Amino acid sequence: MIWLIGCKGMLGSEIAKQMTEKKIPWIGTDKEVDITDINALIAYTDTIETASYFPSEIKRSERKINWIINCSAYTNVEKAEEDTELAHKLNAEGPLNIARVARKISAKLVHISTDYVFNGHGSSPYTEDLPKDPLGVYGKTKAEGEDAIQKEMNTYYIIRTAWLYGFDGKNFVYTMTKAMNSHDSVKVVNDQKGTPTCAVDLAETILKLIEKNNKAKTFFGKNSAPSYGVYQYTNAGETNWYEFTKEIYRLGKKYGRITQDCTVNPCTTAEYGAKVERPAYSVLSKDKIIKAMKLKIPTWQQSLEKFIKNTRFEPK
Ligand SMILES: NC(=O)c1ccc[n+]([C@@H]2O[C@H](COP(=O)([O-])OP(=O)(O)OC[C@H]3O[C@@H](n4cnc5c(N)ncnc54)[C@H](OP(=O)(O)O)[C@@H]3O)[C@@H](O)[C@H]2O)c1
Repeated sequence: MIWLIGCKGMLGSEIAKQMTEKKIPWIGTDKEVDITDINALIAYTDTIETASYFPSEIKRSERKINWIINCSAYTNVEKAEEDTELAHKLNAEGPLNIARVARKISAKLVHISTDYVFNGHGSSPYTEDLPKDPLGVYGKTKAEGEDAIQKEMNTYYIIRTAWLYGFDGKNFVYTMTKAMNSHDSVKVVNDQKGTPTCAVDLAETILKLIEKNNKAKTFFGKNSAPSYGVYQYTNAGETNWYEFTKEIYRLGKKYGRITQDCTVNPCTTAEYGAKVERPAYSVLSKDKIIKAMKLKIPTWQQSLEKFIKNTRFEPK
């Protein structure tokens, strides 16, 4: 059985939906089981395996938690600069607590991290092994969370992603769709490069990774599961926020999500006057995960079109 932590967040709710559709036995918690309190996590695992009430679709023999997926985090990049203590608790101490509990119950862990662990001063895709050098509190605390897991346990997959959008949660695609439906023009930065990533694709990849690990076999002492460690997953290709917005506008118009004309204007980060320094170049290399899982990753444009076309598309 999989324990999904942060099941009500944007990525968490997509993983939850897919697990239910695929009939994968799972349980989910969010804020009510606080990841900053190790005793709360332990108490939850104790009750879960002995609970009298259980979703009927989960058989008694499946009640052992053998995987934890951690999607909980402090994700507000700007607020983190002032809310340092809570960001540290959630992004650094939380993953450490989860890793300790995973070890205690002999569960494997999938933890989600971010492109913000890099400074973004590069100009070619960042590979997993490059040194981390985060710019702000969010990136620093997420980097500490990665380190804590790596020190605490061996059976983990840390998956870094970037520019995430999904159906259930506040995200750039929804924000811009709403803005372009209520303004004649919008101004968007064109000097930060990265890759938009649809939560649907990332969720599918995480579940495939777990399945591959579960089905792995050992031949001549070599295990066929992707080796544990750090991986990176985003959609394929690269763009900047301005070009991304133009594509949201084009597709929004095509599928009737944007019903008025709006001009998308480029500007620089300096002109925009952002409060927090963000990585200027945060394209992540996907070569490692492509090779380990024999993946074919859709381009960001293909996934964006599917997302905007989908009936679940409801900007909140
Ligand atoms: N969004 C992006 O663009 C992006 C990019 C790169 C990487 N990531 C990473 O991807 C992962 C998922 O991101 P997301 O955007 O899906 O995050 P999200 O929507 O902010 O979801 C995080 C969830 O964790 C919950 N939570 C907060 N405090 C908690 C606590 N003490 N104990 C347990 N749960 C708690 C949140 O509840 P509340 O909402 O009520 O606080 C929320 O439901 C994160 O690790 C994030 O760092 C995200």
